Amino acid sequence: MIEDLKKTFLDELESVKSLADLSNLKVKYLGRKGIITAELKSLSSIPPDERPLHGKKINDIKQFIEEKLDSRESQLKKEELGRQLLSDSLDITLSGKFTTFGREHPINKILSEITDIFVRMGFSVEEGPEVELDYYNFEALNIPKDHPARDMQDTFYISDDIVLRTHTSPVQVRVMEKRKPPVRFIAPGKVYRCDADITHTPMFHQIEGLMVDKGITFSNLKGVLEAFLHRMFGADTPVRFRPSFFPFTEPSAEVDIGCILCNGAGCRVCKGSGWLEILGAGMVNPRVFENVGYDPEEYSGFAFGMGIERIAMLKYSIDDIRLFFENDIRFLRQF
Ligand code: PHE
Repeated sequence: MIEDLKKTFLDELESVKSLADLSNLKVKYLGRKGIITAELKSLSSIPPDERPLHGKKINDIKQFIEEKLDSRESQLKKEELGRQLLSDSLDITLSGKFTTFGREHPINKILSEITDIFVRMGFSVEEGPEVELDYYNFEALNIPKDHPARDMQDTFYISDDIVLRTHTSPVQVRVMEKRKPPVRFIAPGKVYRCDADITHTPMFHQIEGLMVDKGITFSNLKGVLEAFLHRMFGADTPVRFRPSFFPFTEPSAEVDIGCILCNGAGCRVCKGSGWLEILGAGMVNPRVFENVGYDPEEYSGFAFGMGIERIAMLKYSIDDIRLFFENDIRFLRQF
C-alpha cells in the first residue's frame, strides 16, 4: 500500500506542468491535511511493535517525496527563467540606434574663444537689441544724418527712426546711459548691412568692447588689444596700429596683424601686403560721453569692434563667407 503511494505520487508528479501545480501537489501530500501527514497520524492506531518499522517506511517516503518535489521545483524555476529571458530578450548582436550629436557652429566657437579671453581680463558681457533706434545706432555715436554710413544702400531701415543695427557700437551708448563709470565690457551679437558677396552677408557678427575710467589712455587700448591678439593668434603674431577714422572715436585706429596665412610674405588673402586688418578701435569721442552724461574732462576710455566672420575665415582658411550660413552639414562637421 505504501509502495502504491510512491507510484501514485510519481505519476502525479509527471503531470505537474507549473509551479502552481507543484505547490498543489505538495499540499496534497505534505500539507496539514495531506496524505503523508495523515499516515503519520495513523501510526498511533497500529500495534506498538509495528510502529517503528511502519514509521520508518512513511518517513522514507516523506523524504523521497520532499526530494522529488524540490528537484522538480528547481527544474520548473529554471524553465520559467528560460522562458522569461526569451520573451524579454536583449539581442546584443543587434546594431544600436545612434544619436547624431550637434556641435558648436564655427562662428559661435570663435565668439566663445574671444569672449573667454576678454572675460579673463575682467570684462563683463553685455547685449543690446538688434532692432535699434536710429538714435543709438547713429545719432548718439556722433554719426549725423548726412554721414555716408547712413546711406540707404548700407542700412536696413524699418522706419525713419528704427533700423537693424549696422554695428554693435550702440551697446556702448545703452550701457553708459545706465551705468556710472568705470565700465569695462564686451558686447557680442548680430549686425545687419544691405550687402552680399563672397566676403559680405546681410547678417554677420561683431564684438564690441568698451573700457571707461579715469585716466584711460591710448596705451591701455594698445595693451589690451595686443594681449587679446596675441592670445587669439599666437604670441609671436606681429600687431600694428594704423590711423583711421570713426565718428565715435578720436583718435581712431585700425589694427592689423601679420598675415597668418603667409607669415607676412604676401599672399592672395592679404593682397600681397603681409598684413590683415582685424579690428577698428579708438579713444571714445568726447561727444559720445556728453550724449550719455559722462564728463569728458573727468573720464576717458577706449572702444573697439571686430567682425567675427572675418576672424573665423582667417583662422579656418575659408574663402566664402556664405558657407557659414548655408548650413551644409558637411561643412559644419569640420569644426
Ligand atoms: N563700429 C565700427 C564698425 O562697425 C567698429 C568700431 C567699434 C570702431 C568701436 C571703433 C570703435 O566698423
